Amino acid sequence: MKLWTVLGAFLGLLCLFADLAAQHHREPVAPLVMPEGLKPELVELGERLFNDVRFSSNNSVSCAHCHHLASGGDDGLRVSVGVEGRLGTINSPSVYNTTFNIACQDP
Ligand code: HEC
Repeated sequence: MKLWTVLGAFLGLLCLFADLAAQHHREPVAPLVMPEGLKPELVELGERLFNDVRFSSNNSVSCAHCHHLASGGDDGLRVSVGVEGRLGTINSPSVYNTTFNIACQDP
């Protein structure tokens, strides 16, 4: 589905963004460096997708519902709350520095 392709590209961009920063700072947690050549329209699209509730089964929950970018990248709850108020079994991790997640590493 095209929407998922674009969201995947946005997440890839997040990984690249943090990976570029990691090349400059080899500390486990380092300030991100703004990479050159970012296309503002793609960054804006990624932000819109991240806040789009159409990714949930009943159009009520977006990524930002559980990953608050303005306050640490998580939701600060013991367990995440999904559609219709259903509780998950684990809490949401921060999406900051996602590049350090093993899933974003080169093989
Ligand atoms: C209902 C809450 C909820 C929503 C909505 C949600 N997430 Fe998450 N997210 C989680 C939880 C919980 C985990 C941990 C999953 C695990 O470890 O198995 C997670 C993990 C992640 C991770 C891995 C972070 C890391 O470094 O380990 C990323 C990236 C992520 N989510 C991005 C997204 C994106 C993009 C969306 C929207 C398409 C989204 N999330 C929607 C709760 C949520």
